[in-house]
Amino acid sequence: MTRNAALVMLACLGCGEANEPVAARASPPRVLSSPAEAVDLDADPLVVHVRLRAAPALHRIGDSEYPGFAYNGQLPGPTIRARVGDTLVVELENALEFDTTLHWHGLSVPYAMDGVTWQTGAVKPGETFTYSFEVTAAGTFWYHPHFDSERQVDLGLYGALIVEAPTEPALDDELVLIFDSWGEFRAESGSGGHGTPGTRPGALEPALGPLHTNEHTPDPGRWTVNGLVAPAFPSRSGTSLRVRLINASNDDYLDLHWSQIRQIASDQGLLPALQTPERLLLAPGDRAEVEWLLGGDDFGIHAEPYSMHGGVALGESHELLRVETEGSRTAPPAPEWPFSGTAASSDPGSTDIVYVFTGDAGGSDWRINGERYPDVTIEELDLGSTAVLELRNASATEHPFHLHGHAFEVLAVGGVAPAVRMLEDTINVRIGEVVRLRLHADNVGDWMAHCHLLSHAEGGMMTVLRVRP
Ligand code: C2O
Ligand code: CU
Repeated sequence: MTRNAALVMLACLGCGEANEPVAARASPPRVLSSPAEAVDLDADPLVVHVRLRAAPALHRIGDSEYPGFAYNGQLPGPTIRARVGDTLVVELENALEFDTTLHWHGLSVPYAMDGVTWQTGAVKPGETFTYSFEVTAAGTFWYHPHFDSERQVDLGLYGALIVEAPTEPALDDELVLIFDSWGEFRAESGSGGHGTPGTRPGALEPALGPLHTNEHTPDPGRWTVNGLVAPAFPSRSGTSLRVRLINASNDDYLDLHWSQIRQIASDQGLLPALQTPERLLLAPGDRAEVEWLLGGDDFGIHAEPYSMHGGVALGESHELLRVETEGSRTAPPAPEWPFSGTAASSDPGSTDIVYVFTGDAGGSDWRINGERYPDVTIEELDLGSTAVLELRNASATEHPFHLHGHAFEVLAVGGVAPAVRMLEDTINVRIGEVVRLRLHADNVGDWMAHCHLLSHAEGGMMTVLRVRP
C-alpha cells in the first residue's frame, strides 16, 4: 500500500468523516518515528553530555489531553545514545513542583548515581543534579524517575537509553518503540504537595476507575507507541531494521505478536543466538530487540489478550502499530550479529536468598517475604561473590521482578532451564512459579529489588539487597 493511501485511510478511520482532507486535520500525526535523540553537548567522542529538563507538559493521547510531565517537552523523553566505555553525563533540571530523580534501568552504575532515595537524596524542585558514570554494557535500557515513580512515570517521565557496541553491525535503519498505556491516572492542574515514597499524592484521582479491575487486556485506546495511538510506520521494502522495544507502562503487560518475530536481544543486549518465538512478552520494565527484514508486505504489530491474574485472557488481539512498506523489493538477508553462543550456566542447586511474593489482586498491600518497603530486612552479599536468588510467587497475580545495579542470569523458570542463556534485569514471575537466578555481586551498594508493576512497588513490594565491599 502506498504511504498516501495509508494516511488517507488512517485519517478516515480516525475521524469517521469520509472526505476530510488529511492536511486540514488538527489531530496529531499518526506517522511513527523514533523519539528525537538528546543532543550531545560535548565534542569529546568518549563523552556523551546531555541535558534533561523535567517539567509539566500537556500530552495529547488520541483524542484526550492529559496534563502530565515530560523531559524536554517530549513524549517519550529524548533517546540518549552512547557507546560501551563512554562516560555519560546527564544534567537533570527539575522544573517540577515535586522532588524527582533519574534511574538508569538495566545499567550497572555506581550506587550514588542510581537515582534511588534509600540513602541518597532526591533532586529538589528548581535544582539541577548532574549524573555521571561510565556505561559498561551494550543494550537497550531506559531511564525514569525513582521517586514517586508510580505517578511520575505514569505522567510521562521516561525515555530510551541505547548503548551501542562497536562489534554490532549497523542495519539500514533503527527504530525505537516505547509502549505505554494510558487512562489510569490524571493530574489535576495546579496540584501541589510533595510526594514521598510510600504515599500516593492526593492530587491524583482515578480517571477510568480503580486499578486492577480489568484483566490487563490491551485496549487499543489505552496503548501508545512513542506517544501515538495506532500509528503507521512507513518504510521501504528491501531494508533491514534493528527495532528496540521498551514497555514503559506502569502496570500493563504486552504480549506482542506479528509475522516472523526475529528476536536478537533481551534486557541485557544480544542473546547467544537468534530466537524466533511465536510471541514476545514484555512485562512492565522489559525490553527486547528484534530485526525486521522488510519485503513488500505490510504487517501489523498486535497485542494479544493477556491475563496477569491467571485464567483465560479476555478480549481480542489489537493492532498497536502498522508497518507499511513501499516498493516490492525482496527481504534483505539477515545481518551477521556477533552472537556469542554462550551456554547457560548450570544451576548449582543451592540457594542463597529467597524472595516470596504475596498480596491480593485488587488490594494495595504487596509484600516480599511478608515485609513492606521501607520496613524490610536487608539481605547482604560480599562484593565478588556469586549467589543464587530464588523468587517464589505465592500471590494471585504475576510480578516482573527487577534488581538494580546488576544483570542476572536466569537459571530456571518453573524448574526448567531456559533454552539459551538469558541475561536480564527484569524477569516476570507467573502465579505459583519459582524462578531461580544467578547473580554475580560486582557492584557495591544498597540495591533496590522490586516488582516493576509500579502500583505493587508503591504498595510495598520492594526490598533492598546490599552488596558490601
Ligand atoms: Cu525501572 Cu527500580 O526501576
Ligand atoms: Cu507485582
